[in-house]
Amino acid sequence: MRVYYSSAALIIAWFAVLGCIQAVTLEVKEGNSTCIKAELSASFSVTYNTSSSTRTVQFPLPDSTTVDTASSSCGTEESSPWLVAVFGPGHALGLSFSTNGSLYSVANLTLQYNLSDTSTFPDANSSGVITVVSASVGISATINTTYHCVSPSTFVVGGATVTFSDMRLEAYMPGNELSPTESICMEDPTSSTAPPTTAGTTTTAAPAPTPPGTPERGTYFVNKGNGTQCLLAQMGLQLNFTYFSHSQNKTVQELLNLTPNLTTSSGSCEASSASLVLTQEQITTLNFTFTLNSTSKKYHLSGITLLADRADATAPISASNSSLDYLRSTLGRSYMCNAEQTLAVVPSFSLNTFRLQVQPFQVTTDQFDTAEECQMDQDLMLIPIIVGAALAGLVLIVLIAYLIGRKRSHAGYQTI
Ligand SMILES: *[C@@H]1O[C@H](CO)[C@@H](O)[C@H](O)[C@H]1NC(C)=O
Ligand SMILES: *[C@@H]1O[C@H](CO)[C@@H](O)[C@H](O)[C@H]1NC(C)=O
Ligand SMILES: *[C@@H]1O[C@H](CO)[C@@H](O)[C@H](O)[C@H]1NC(C)=O
Ligand SMILES: *[C@@H]1O[C@H](CO)[C@@H](O)[C@H](O)[C@H]1NC(C)=O
Ligand SMILES: *[C@@H]1O[C@H](CO)[C@@H](O)[C@H](O)[C@H]1NC(C)=O
Ligand SMILES: *[C@@H]1O[C@H](CO)[C@@H](O)[C@H](O)[C@H]1NC(C)=O
Ligand SMILES: *[C@@H]1O[C@H](CO)[C@@H](O)[C@H](O)[C@H]1NC(C)=O
Ligand SMILES: *[C@@H]1O[C@H](CO)[C@@H](O)[C@H](O)[C@H]1NC(C)=O
Ligand SMILES: *[C@@H]1O[C@H](CO)[C@@H](O)[C@H](O)[C@H]1NC(C)=O
Ligand SMILES: *[C@@H]1O[C@H](CO)[C@@H](O)[C@H](O)[C@H]1NC(C)=O
Ligand SMILES: *[C@@H]1O[C@H](CO)[C@@H](O)[C@H](O)[C@H]1NC(C)=O
Ligand SMILES: *[C@@H]1O[C@H](CO)[C@@H](O)[C@H](O)[C@H]1NC(C)=O
Repeated sequence: MRVYYSSAALIIAWFAVLGCIQAVTLEVKEGNSTCIKAELSASFSVTYNTSSSTRTVQFPLPDSTTVDTASSSCGTEESSPWLVAVFGPGHALGLSFSTNGSLYSVANLTLQYNLSDTSTFPDANSSGVITVVSASVGISATINTTYHCVSPSTFVVGGATVTFSDMRLEAYMPGNELSPTESICMEDPTSSTAPPTTAGTTTTAAPAPTPPGTPERGTYFVNKGNGTQCLLAQMGLQLNFTYFSHSQNKTVQELLNLTPNLTTSSGSCEASSASLVLTQEQITTLNFTFTLNSTSKKYHLSGITLLADRADATAPISASNSSLDYLRSTLGRSYMCNAEQTLAVVPSFSLNTFRLQVQPFQVTTDQFDTAEECQMDQDLMLIPIIVGAALAGLVLIVLIAYLIGRKRSHAGYQTI
């Protein structure tokens, strides 16, 4: 029988580079040899339901975190090595590893949280322990090296996010201490922060902050009570917002594309106002409000509200403007804009729309009525018309010239 024992050495009151996120050291041992060791700071953002609303809380991995020796293991033929850290009443963070001989990686990231813990989840409308798992985390490094990442990296796990920062981690360890050779993650600048022992074996890394490209177009609608649709929308959406990053101690900018199949829609339809609420994985909520002027029979997008949770932000991000005037169209018509449009909401938040078509009022057949197109589309459509007209003109001129020329030469031939 094997005896597993583990220890969690705690770096007391070690305030992470910034702010008050504690760094924790966690070790999994088998006999006298350490197989997994992690030194890291982590914070969590969890969304849960109260009886009346949805709420998000953020909390750090506390310095009282310990390794759960019963569930952690160095792995066997059948099972992978697993580090399970427990904290508070029934909360846990798990990292399981896999290797192919030359690389090792975090195979899955597990978060377990106890909604019965009312001091962390006040007014939760359900109780008990929730377990969420994310595979393909993207943390990997060359075997016999330490994975090192100072920059925060955020992972979405179910309705929660986990943000690691200042992380040193190794599994399948050849010795009892972290290997001096490090694999620096892609987010970190290799030149300035790399310790002298760092070898050139930089592999790895989590979601890189590259521009997300054009968002996929989604189809969203709002249902009236009995299954008929009262608001229709098709669009690709890209959020552009800035927020204060706790771990980086500065304002950062983020571009976020809504992923249609992770986004749910809801809303309401009333006589002179309609709202479309899009929620992506309970982390990002966008609320569009359309207003109808029943005198002029014109409607427009009058308000946008954003609520977004970033584990790294000091507070949930919220932005709202209810005196907007976008997407103007006429009752009984839909509004369409294939060109990219930027809807400025507040200085820290704007929305880029792509291939958009909406109809917030008088939807009768579950289908869009005739579209009124935005000026940009009309301008774009003018280009082929102008080019076409110019070409037609040219053809005409050539034809006339040819006919005249033919007539002349014919006449000339006759005189000879
Ligand atoms: C954050 O940055 C400001 C100025 O950039 C600095 O004064 C402050 O000390 C920093 N805070 C932390 C916790 O490093
Ligand atoms: C662990 O180390 C102690 C002392 O260093 C030694 O007596 C003991 O046999 C070792 N146990 C194992 C399982 O290697
Ligand atoms: C919150 O409630 C909504 C509907 O009542 C449900 O769809 C959602 O899954 C719940 N979210 C959580 C985190 O339990
Ligand atoms: C995650 O890894 C642990 C340990 O290997 C395993 O017990 C668990 O089933 C895995 N979960 C998923 C969803 O793969
Ligand atoms: C969840 O929290 C409650 C209240 O703090 C506690 O009584 C319960 O034992 C916890 N559950 C687990 C599995 O630890
Ligand atoms: C391990 O995986 C990496 C990346 O997928 C690959 O480059 C490498 O060749 C693999 N090594 C072995 C021994 O399969
Ligand atoms: C890793 O280190 C161990 C012990 O030093 C050695 O036996 C093993 O061959 C090394 N593995 C690789 C892939 O370098
Ligand atoms: C849905 O409600 C509308 C008016 O409220 C009614 O005209 C229509 O017949 C209802 N449709 C169904 C399928 O019940
Ligand atoms: C995002 O917003 C910033 C500031 O408002 C702006 O400079 C930048 O060009 C925008 N980026 C995109 C892709 O819209
Ligand atoms: C979402 O769509 C992408 C591509 O369209 C697909 O690869 C992915 O599996 C889908 N995810 C879910 C949760 O359906
Ligand atoms: C969306 O905004 C409208 C108008 O401000 C408001 O009445 C509605 O309650 C909001 N919906 C949600 C889900 O916040
Ligand atoms: C509705 O449109 C009419 C005519 O364009 C205008 O006079 C009136 O102020 C508008 N009402 C509102 C509430 O905007």
